[in-house]
Amino acid sequence: MNGDMPQNNHDKANGKPVDRFRPKFHMTPPFGLMNDPNGFIYYVGKYHTFYQWNPNKTVHATKYWGHFTSENLFEWKHENAVLAPEDWFDCNGCYSGSAIEHEGNLIVLYTGNVLNEIGDRETYQCMAISKDGMTFDKKGPVLHLPAGYTAHFRDPKVWKKEDTWYMVVGAQSETKTGKVALFSSTNLTDWEHHGAIAGSHMNGLGDFGYMWECPDLFSLSGKDVLIVSPQGLEPKGDDYHNLFQSGYFIGEMDYQTKQYCHGDFRELDRGFEFYAPQTTIGANGQRILIAWMGMPDESEEHHPTIHDGWIHAMTLPRELTLFEGKLYQKPVKELEKLRTNEVHYEHVSIFNNSRDFKGVSGQSIELIIDILTNKSDVFSMRISNAIQIDFDSKTKIFSLTRKNFQTQSDEVRKCKLEDIYSLNIFIDLSTVEIFINGGEEVFSSRFFSEKNDGEILFHSKGEVSLNIKKWEISQSICF
Ligand code: FRU
Repeated sequence: MNGDMPQNNHDKANGKPVDRFRPKFHMTPPFGLMNDPNGFIYYVGKYHTFYQWNPNKTVHATKYWGHFTSENLFEWKHENAVLAPEDWFDCNGCYSGSAIEHEGNLIVLYTGNVLNEIGDRETYQCMAISKDGMTFDKKGPVLHLPAGYTAHFRDPKVWKKEDTWYMVVGAQSETKTGKVALFSSTNLTDWEHHGAIAGSHMNGLGDFGYMWECPDLFSLSGKDVLIVSPQGLEPKGDDYHNLFQSGYFIGEMDYQTKQYCHGDFRELDRGFEFYAPQTTIGANGQRILIAWMGMPDESEEHHPTIHDGWIHAMTLPRELTLFEGKLYQKPVKELEKLRTNEVHYEHVSIFNNSRDFKGVSGQSIELIIDILTNKSDVFSMRISNAIQIDFDSKTKIFSLTRKNFQTQSDEVRKCKLEDIYSLNIFIDLSTVEIFINGGEEVFSSRFFSEKNDGEILFHSKGEVSLNIKKWEISQSICF
């Protein structure tokens, strides 16, 4: 493999990345820019999370595939990059893709992004093969752009059903509508196109975006779930307030007719930073999701971490389950292994006041808050002087407020919930993930607080009674 591949040394980060906003138990790039998780797989006893990486600068430009490995889903080791944009078919970026295991090999399918001499985009779906998951042999394109789509055609996700390989690709039709295109193959190199199975102006959806990125189709509890990141949705009520969305459909995939019949689109996460999620099957057969805790085209220059030479992070791995027609996300159970120094309070009540609880604070922590009775009008928590969460029992609105990185004015994301009875919150220096009611809704966001003292203030207008548990979480990412 090429000698110019970014290696896992820390020249640019001065040995060890110890900068003040760097999370301790979330994957971040050692330097440069991280976006989508790629090729997420459990292969020969190890999890591999590859990722979109610009190792040269904290901006979106020519992407490599960076690499983390883990034996247990909670301790991750940064490895050398595996794919470099150095061939004619991927010279402007080894874009997103997926991994499968076949005949003992780890095979990845990814998008080769090319800007030709006249500046036009070309796209090639390419294959690379590895015997050990650590170094890859590029095989070049296995799929050229089919008729009917623009060159915004990328992010292949591959799976096997009986003896056939299937692949979904994120696409834009020639009429500039977002689509998911389906292909099948018996040998991974010759792919038959079956047309679009979902998209804007399909299956009763109406106008639903100009491009769909990063599709992922898998079965879960007898249903077929399609996860996708559509671009171009207008805000509607409390929905679709981020620049781009990531969400899912629940439906049935008919592998005979190649038709996918599905219900409504639902956002996967209600926070500010969540995009391009990808799933895999874990060691125990569970469906696990990781997403990029970032947003494309977001003005990167306002993230303070660029002064430390890096930007963006991944979410924690989450297990997916289907319950009453809704996808639930829970932090994977393995993360419990990271808990230390438990502090707990039982049956504490807060009545028309604000208070903290001794020991319930910290910069890298997990909290579980069981809401035993809620007679409050509004129950709130203020985290690290930067994030405020509120549940308004009258309007049934749960909201997360933070300061906009650029303007410093308040901005808010919301969703409706019948009630709240539990919060599982992970805070990690500059990341927060809030799992509400066992994963019924999740808010994932970044925050950058100048006076981040790890303080957590509880407030109730009216009365709430709570059980609180808090653990410290130590460094579990190794560079
Ligand atoms: C999503 C995305 C993908 C593309 C990759 C490039 O964030 O735009 O569609 O493959 O990022 O880095």
